[in-house]
Amino acid sequence: MLVAAGCATVSLAAGPAGDPVKGKTIFARCMACHKIDASNTSGLGPNLNRVVGRRAGAVAGFRYSPAMMASGRVWNEAALDAYLAAPARNIPGNRMVFPGLANPVDRQNVIAYIRSAAK
Ligand code: HEC
Repeated sequence: MLVAAGCATVSLAAGPAGDPVKGKTIFARCMACHKIDASNTSGLGPNLNRVVGRRAGAVAGFRYSPAMMASGRVWNEAALDAYLAAPARNIPGNRMVFPGLANPVDRQNVIAYIRSAAK
């Protein structure tokens, strides 16, 4: 299964793979700005459908910050974990106004949800 295979290749301090069901409740906080569906439409933030494994700044039609476009990042699990822990510190100058998820388990769970929700 994709979730297990993906997580097995990445070793994170957080330990075991996240729980997508718990992650869905965390994702409610992201939904103020992010959709995650095949509509390809964005809100205040870019659509997060299939973001895992994608390069940063790739949603067509969304106006990213220069900082995000220049980050050169690929959103693997480790990159998502680092960004979601402290967005402003991780990519200085990016425009995601979100304080971050301090709890590593919350981050693992929300990443598992994002993965599982891919259409
Ligand atoms: C207040 C609105 C807001 C909230 C809440 C928010 N984001 Fe964002 N997010 C943004 C914006 C705006 C960007 C684009 C930043 C830029 O271009 O600098 C972004 C970018 C991202 C990206 C990079 C996407 C890409 O295509 O490169 C990811 C991943 C992401 N957010 C995940 C999350 C997750 C997960 C949550 C919830 C835990 C969350 N965001 C909460 C507004 C938000």
